[in-house]
Amino acid sequence: MPETTLTSVEYLRSDGVSVVVERRGDELPCILHWGRDLGELDERDLASFTAANRTVLGSDTLDEEPRVSLLPEASRGWFGRPGLRGHRGGRFFSPRFRVTGARRTDEAGSDRLTWLAHDEAAELELQLTLELAPSGLLRAQARVTNVGSSPFSLEALEIALPVPVDAGEILEHTGRHLLERQEQRSAFQPGTHLRESRRARGHDATMLLAAGTPGFSARAGEVWGVHVGWSGNTSVAAERVQPTGARVLTGGELLLAGECALSPGDAYSSPWLSAAHGDGTDALSARFHDFLRARPEHPRSPRMVLCNVWEAVYFDHDLPRLLELAERAAAVGVECFVLDDGWFAGRRDSTAGLGDWSVDRAVWPDGLWPLVERVHQLGMDFGLWFEPEMVNPDSELAREHPEWMLQPGDGRLPASSRSQQVLNLADAGAFAHVLEAMDALLTEYPVAHVKWDHNRDLAEAGDAATGRASVHAQTVAAYRLLDELRARHPTVEFESCAGGGGRADLGVMGRAERLWASDTIDALERVGIEAGTTMLLPPEMIGSHIGAARSHTTSRTHDLAFRGAQAVFGHLGIEWDLTKISDAETRELAEWVALYKRWRPLLHSGRVVHGDPIDDAVAIRGVVAHDRTEALFAVTQLRAGLSYPPGRFRIPGLDERRRYRVSLVYPANVVGPHKSNVEGWWQRETTLAGSILTTAGLHLPPQHPEHTVLVSLAS
Ligand code: DGJ
Repeated sequence: MPETTLTSVEYLRSDGVSVVVERRGDELPCILHWGRDLGELDERDLASFTAANRTVLGSDTLDEEPRVSLLPEASRGWFGRPGLRGHRGGRFFSPRFRVTGARRTDEAGSDRLTWLAHDEAAELELQLTLELAPSGLLRAQARVTNVGSSPFSLEALEIALPVPVDAGEILEHTGRHLLERQEQRSAFQPGTHLRESRRARGHDATMLLAAGTPGFSARAGEVWGVHVGWSGNTSVAAERVQPTGARVLTGGELLLAGECALSPGDAYSSPWLSAAHGDGTDALSARFHDFLRARPEHPRSPRMVLCNVWEAVYFDHDLPRLLELAERAAAVGVECFVLDDGWFAGRRDSTAGLGDWSVDRAVWPDGLWPLVERVHQLGMDFGLWFEPEMVNPDSELAREHPEWMLQPGDGRLPASSRSQQVLNLADAGAFAHVLEAMDALLTEYPVAHVKWDHNRDLAEAGDAATGRASVHAQTVAAYRLLDELRARHPTVEFESCAGGGGRADLGVMGRAERLWASDTIDALERVGIEAGTTMLLPPEMIGSHIGAARSHTTSRTHDLAFRGAQAVFGHLGIEWDLTKISDAETRELAEWVALYKRWRPLLHSGRVVHGDPIDDAVAIRGVVAHDRTEALFAVTQLRAGLSYPPGRFRIPGLDERRRYRVSLVYPANVVGPHKSNVEGWWQRETTLAGSILTTAGLHLPPQHPEHTVLVSLAS
């Protein structure tokens, strides 16, 4: 690994992003610029940049120039939330680190800077890491070690990244069960805009905390965003701190009171903070997508069409019915049949059985074999549902080990949720119980896909024996369990589900091939949910199903064309009682499966783009091949719009120098609710210049609300 000693200014560049990092003397490093590429710069350029970048102070301020390092310190004039918060027996609350070593290395193509620092008085050692990946994704992490002889109480270790003064608008997500990742915007005002998760993620968790030039959109404006890759409690903030008005985006783990007492010699590492800049949110997201796709463990095989039985049968596990469902699924082209909740001991509804991971012999007298064998005969893989971190008090496990349930430590259990509690996986016995039970099942049965569910928030999650908060330990243990199972069963793919999309962070998604993005399959709700989810994750990681005509979660009714057109843009699944559908529906469903198989190589490798709407009644999403020779777009009429037809949309992401053959992929011959004597482009061979499509746009057909057309472009 090549190593160099750092000078006081480091310049990182990758894929249109520049980062300039300055270290003055032995102070912690500060980022002077993170954003658009600054081009070739030599040492003189960088030196004059740092010299010109001094903060000239106004009136009634500290005499020293305030410095906002990657881990901001009050001892350097920072009046925002310090990066390291904690104390040693009530003292040493304000660290002042001095850098003792620095190096620059190449980590699998990423340019990595590492600084070691020491606070002699507080007896703490710090390691700061900052790296710029080839995709332009910036990642940072801090690690603190207690080198003293008494415990150090750590309350927070959070990285801060600066954004410029023209980042005046904040974008984040909020939501609820069945409506995850709804976009929310606000002005970036002086003060602290704080988003905390105190329930170990949650359906309201934001994928990103981003700030950009006011009005930034998918295609326009500059935007900077951060994400904490951690499945436990988290904290992200946009801080605008007076008197200088410095703006930072910060993020880290939210540690509960007393949760992180570092004994002498102990160390704590923050989760990675991943950060991206883009001209528009599509460009920002592309940095995350490219980063994830470059990982060796990223799923590369075609994403199998799944059939998940949940909304077809719920807890009603009846073998003949499931066999018929499997046959119908195979007939429409399904490639993996997933048995959901309800197969294990005592699990006849959601009130009992969690934790007892053996096949329920009352329902499955011959085990799962009769189903598994038939699924294989039909040419499909087999998948199985688990909820490894949970326990029903009504289970053999809880009766034998009530002390294995996370609890505040005063003899009471937290409020139950879906009749369940959380199993303390940091307890060695509980961990071994789940690991061995799951390992035995994955060894006995040829399971290709595990759906890993997590159906309640962590509340008052402490260790029964010690009474200490245990969300951190639980998160580490859940990762360890997943890692161990992946190591023992390397061909199994994992799907992260938490009552739908309650856990979608890069911590868990570094260990799962698929996210079940939401428990709502309503295609209309999915447009927004998936737009939010795609900000971080590429489509091949986002489970998207075709459900029943009448949505089980909203009671809206949509035709199959609309449901299919939404679902094919993710990792396709079917979650519908196929034993009750008509022959015509079966034929149409098979067509959607075939269409997905035809387009998945492009959809799961290309660049995700969104049209900037001229009318918020219309949503446009597309995927453009990296060489820009091919693209597929979905144009969705969300509701009745004032413009009718919606007008000309600029098609994003194409190559302006190419010509494209534009065709309607679905429906094959539309179009619109009204007959018209004007011929649309879709009614004849149409080839248009890329410059026209991107700059002048394409006239879109009129559609009824809650309908979609798919448009392909080929050069
Ligand atoms: C919640 C999930 O999101 C559903 O898809 C299903 O797996 C149920 N849990 C099963 O209990």
